[in-house]
Amino acid sequence: MLEDSQAEMTSTESASSGPLTLAVDIGGSGVKAMLLDSAGNPLSERDRLSTPEPATPESVIEAIHQLAMSKTFDRVSVGFPGVVRQGTTYTAANLDQGWIGFNLGKSLEESLGKPVRVLNDADMQGFGAIEGQGAELVITLGTGVGFAMFVNGILVPNLELGHHPFRKGQTYEEQLGRAALDDVGKKRWNERLQKAIDLLSRTLNYDRLYLGGGNAKRIEIKLPENVKIVPNVSGLLGGIALWKN
Ligand code: BGC
Repeated sequence: MLEDSQAEMTSTESASSGPLTLAVDIGGSGVKAMLLDSAGNPLSERDRLSTPEPATPESVIEAIHQLAMSKTFDRVSVGFPGVVRQGTTYTAANLDQGWIGFNLGKSLEESLGKPVRVLNDADMQGFGAIEGQGAELVITLGTGVGFAMFVNGILVPNLELGHHPFRKGQTYEEQLGRAALDDVGKKRWNERLQKAIDLLSRTLNYDRLYLGGGNAKRIEIKLPENVKIVPNVSGLLGGIALWKN
């Protein structure tokens, strides 16, 4: 069942001409979709369905179909929470293991009848957040913890630092993912985030860091000047970048 409002527009109602993109963000707790005009501006609300359980390729694709049903679009961009190469998903830490080696791009192209491009969700979110100058790091704080790095706007794809050791024998995702937040509470989670920012700023020496994802709204620490919280909608707005070369 749709949880958000559905104020979608059709191509004839859109102010701009050119192809319309359906941007989809597959997350561990929600599957979100939004229609973008050819310049990447939103043309609809951000619709959301709870991620089905188990989150198999079939059940998630069914959710995407439900979200797509009421919309008119020419192409589809999908952010997926795992390693993605040429439309195929290679890891899925927070979804069903049926995704390993699954060709999501091809499968959706066949069922939706439109061209589809798939990218890691943090990578897609990053495109919606960055300035395109210098070294920029993006961290998504959600069910999992995603990382994306850009140099002068060029993506270093599938960074996967979330599964890298961080502290106390645990990875960034184990320390800062949704399960950790639920487990240790907001105060300790914020302290951990502070430590992660200190460490990452000294190791990656980024010019700017963007913090996004559903749990970015729980951030309470004072952030350095070059660290910004970005709205969760960037995860979808980044979808336009998949069609620029
Ligand atoms: C996945 C990443 C993803 C992140 C955020 C991690 O568990 O390995 O690919 O970007 O979660 O969804």
